[in-house]
Amino acid sequence: MDAIVPNKAATARSNGPYRQEVLSVKHWTEDLFSFTLNRPAGFRFRSGEFVMIGLEVNGKPLLRAYSVASPSWDEELEFFSIKVPNGPLTSRLQQITPGDEVLLSRKPTGTLVLDALLPGKRLFLFSTGTGFAPFASVIRDPETYEKFDQIIVTHTCRTVAELDYSRDMIRTIQEDEILSELTGDKLVYFASTTREEFSNMGRITTLLENGKLFSSLGIADLNPETDRAMICGSTVMISDTKDLLEIAGFTEGANNKPADYVIEKAFVG
Ligand code: A2P
Repeated sequence: MDAIVPNKAATARSNGPYRQEVLSVKHWTEDLFSFTLNRPAGFRFRSGEFVMIGLEVNGKPLLRAYSVASPSWDEELEFFSIKVPNGPLTSRLQQITPGDEVLLSRKPTGTLVLDALLPGKRLFLFSTGTGFAPFASVIRDPETYEKFDQIIVTHTCRTVAELDYSRDMIRTIQEDEILSELTGDKLVYFASTTREEFSNMGRITTLLENGKLFSSLGIADLNPETDRAMICGSTVMISDTKDLLEIAGFTEGANNKPADYVIEKAFVG
């Protein structure tokens, strides 16, 4: 008899979030860390998408949106997070260590995907802070290099140490035999700081307006005919960068209506 009574708890669990093992954790600064999780069999996503992740707190799942920083082919799932002071999730999540369990929702989604952009020649990826995460995924996806001749990824942070995650990522790509063959000389990285001395300084909006982004990289100015863009950062950064793209003649795209650029807010708390 027991065998044919549906087990409600088991059914609910199978529709709820996955419970994935933490494989590694790296603390980059006092405010930033990244970690990897075991990828569930059958968990599929497009590079650039986000998913809900979190922890069980007082018996209930506490989940927040996080961009997947690893590419869609990777066996592990990587995430890049800030530590929000007194943040309900991040104050706990920053304490995870390998072997712990993290909750992962089943349905990745998002607009920072190649499908939401029309074909083009150059792809600009503009990020601030943890907004680099989805681009860490996109720049390691072979499809990006099949679709575009040049990929320019920018990362702006307040301090030099906050750039470490993206600088390390680019170095890893350059030193990896397979990834460096994939990117060839198509991948261009531009990092800048706003509150500490560094080789490039200034907000991305300023560097777009005064043309320094293009002159220092020796590339042509924005052109909506050939260029596509993705933006990921704080709400204000997105809105200001978006305004500049709109003035330059770019149209916002979506999954169901691909166009010239797409936006998504970086995870904040
Ligand atoms: P700034 O130091 O001039 O505020 P935050 O840590 O506040 O999210 O900021 C991350 C980076 O984004 C900082 O370098 C910050 O520059 C920059 N930033 C903040 N607001 C904007 C904006 N409206 N447009 C472009 N960049 C911005």
